[in-house]
Parts: sequence; structure tokens; C-alpha cells
Amino acid sequence: MQLNIAVLPGDGIGPEITQTALEVTKVVANKFGHQLTYEFGLVGACAIDKTGNPYPPETHTLCMNSDAVLFGAIGDPRFDNNPSAKVRPEQGLLAMRKQLGLYANIRPVTTFPSLLHKSPLRSDLIQDADLMCIRELTGGIYFGKPQGRSEDGNSAVDTCTYSREEIERIVRLAFQYAQKRRKKLTIVDKANVLETSRLWRETSQRLEKDYPDVTTEYMFVDNAAMQLIQWPKRFDVLVTENMFGDILTDEASVITGSLGMLPSASIGIHTSVFEPIHGSYPQAAGKNIANPLATILSAALMFEYAFNLMEEGALIRKAVDASLEAGYVTEDICTNGQPRSTSDVGEWIVRYIQSQTE
Ligand code: IPM
Ligand code: MN
Repeated sequence: MQLNIAVLPGDGIGPEITQTALEVTKVVANKFGHQLTYEFGLVGACAIDKTGNPYPPETHTLCMNSDAVLFGAIGDPRFDNNPSAKVRPEQGLLAMRKQLGLYANIRPVTTFPSLLHKSPLRSDLIQDADLMCIRELTGGIYFGKPQGRSEDGNSAVDTCTYSREEIERIVRLAFQYAQKRRKKLTIVDKANVLETSRLWRETSQRLEKDYPDVTTEYMFVDNAAMQLIQWPKRFDVLVTENMFGDILTDEASVITGSLGMLPSASIGIHTSVFEPIHGSYPQAAGKNIANPLATILSAALMFEYAFNLMEEGALIRKAVDASLEAGYVTEDICTNGQPRSTSDVGEWIVRYIQSQTE
């Protein structure tokens, strides 16, 4: 296959981890006889520095014309410490999601046998946990209007809005994923307080009859936050609104052992985006120490979700497992022996893939 990938490294550790993941995609493409082309675009703080815009129109055109987007990370302390900055790197990510119509963010959460001890949670609680968080990505409080400050600057407003259509398309998608898995769907909301949550619940209840083979449960988000780390194995597919999903998936990364391990796929109307769930880790930028596995696993999701190339994705996953088994890992997940660099982990995985015979 001939496939064009838009690469948006972004800020902080973004360039190092995307470069490492690119090397992995190259060796996989070679092995299976695919032609991949890579074109780079600006997003985030580096785009603001060069163009004044965190998601410049050229980047959007590039994404629209590509078969998939591989995304690093965005964010910069210069902006985090300056709440009055008008233009912020995060706006680039949000604009990209919105303009590409990426309403579903899929975050698989699994455990790796060799990382069980890295989680602060008891091994017997997390062993074999396997859940899929589906986060609504283009609605809710992230995008609702009005948003802003009062004239005197002493009060501020954010608005959470959801339409029935927005809820229906994400919840249907979640039902379909549940059908392909263990047929259990947990719909997380705060329907005891929020009107948007009540609309979620009402809309979801109407959809249940179309998926009679799926067992559906409703759970308040505060309870879900507790159950997620108390007994994660009770979950199969979990679907929720934008901000609840943001928070619950960082929490869920504790099950896997490191935020540096969780990949994601953002899908919807136009080109899909594949990105690690972690941020730009500015303290590590340029040091070649960040964990590249979330981005490498995002590349695996890219092969599977965007290109429907399942064997290619599976081989990347197998290589990641092997690197963990071998203890060839970055410092965030290293317990025994010496931590390896970002690029060394990438090279180990590339060599492993080369050494595999089909
Ligand atoms: C994520 C990130 C983003 C979000 C930020 C960087 C805007 O935390 O992808 O989870 O909140 O969606
Ligand atoms: Mn987040």
C-alpha cells in the first residue's frame, strides 16, 4: 500500500518520540512492502512561535490530504505559567480535533506482565485488566460558548453543551466496540447534577434496544473514578463526555504503570489522529530520556485503525512486549539495571522487528 502520513511532532519531547515511532513504522513498512511517505507540519507552541497560530491552515491542509496523522505532544511552560496568554498551544490540538471532526478518542488500557510491579495498585487487582475508554472529543465544556472573563476580570465562565446527535454518535460507536469485545458498556456521567448528563443518559437509554446483546450500566463519574482503581477488571468499554474522559484516562494509566505507555486513536469524520495520551514533558525535552512506547503503540493503532493493517499493528505490539520483557526500557518504567534512552529503545524495537521472520 501507498500511504501518506502527516507527522506533527509538536513541543517538548514531541520531536524525539515521534522520530522514534517513525523509525518503527519504516521498518514495519519495509517488512510488509508498503510505501510510506512522511510530511511534517507545525502544531502547538512551535507553531505559535513561527506563525502566530497554534494550528496553521497549512497544517490543516496537510492533515486533510494525508491518510493518517501521527501526533507527538503539545504544551510549553511559557504558556502554562502565563494564564493571560491569549493564544495557547493547547488551542492547536483542540482546533485540529474540531476541524477534522474527531469526535471519538479511543484509549485502550491494558497491563503488561513485566510492568505489573510498577503500578502502585496491587498486582492481583490489575493483572489482565483490559478496558477501552471512549472519550467524546469535540464537544462539552472544552468547546461550549460562552467561555471567557467578565469585563472587570473578576468572574469567568465555561459552558458545557451537548446535543442529542453528538451523544448518539459517540454512544453508538461505544456500543459497537462493546459488541466486538466482552459486550459490556459503562456509560459514565453526572446525571444526578448536570443537565447535559441527563441528556446523555436519556439518549443512551433509547439506544440500548438496538444493542440487545450488550449489557449496559450507568455510573456517576465520581464513583467511576473510585471503581477504576479499586477493581478495574469490572470494566470492558467505558464511554463518557470530553472532560470526564480526559480525567479518567490519566487515572487509568496508573493501571498500566506509566503515563508513558498509553496510546490513543482519535477518529471521526476526516483523517484520524494517533497520539500518546501524555503531554510534552518539557523537563525532559531534548534529553533523549522520555518513554517512546505510547507513541510507538499509537503507531500500531494507526496501522490497525487507519489502514486496516492488523498484522503490522500486532507485530509492533509484540516488539513492545519483547522490549519490556527484556527490560530494555526508559527510566520511568525501569526497576532493574540501567535505564535506556528514547532512541535506544526505538532501535531495540526496530532490530526486533527486523529479526522476525514472517
Ligand atoms: C489530552 C490532553 C489535552 C486534553 C490537552 C493538552 C488539551 O490532556 O489529550 O488528554 O485535555 O484533551
Ligand atoms: Mn489529558
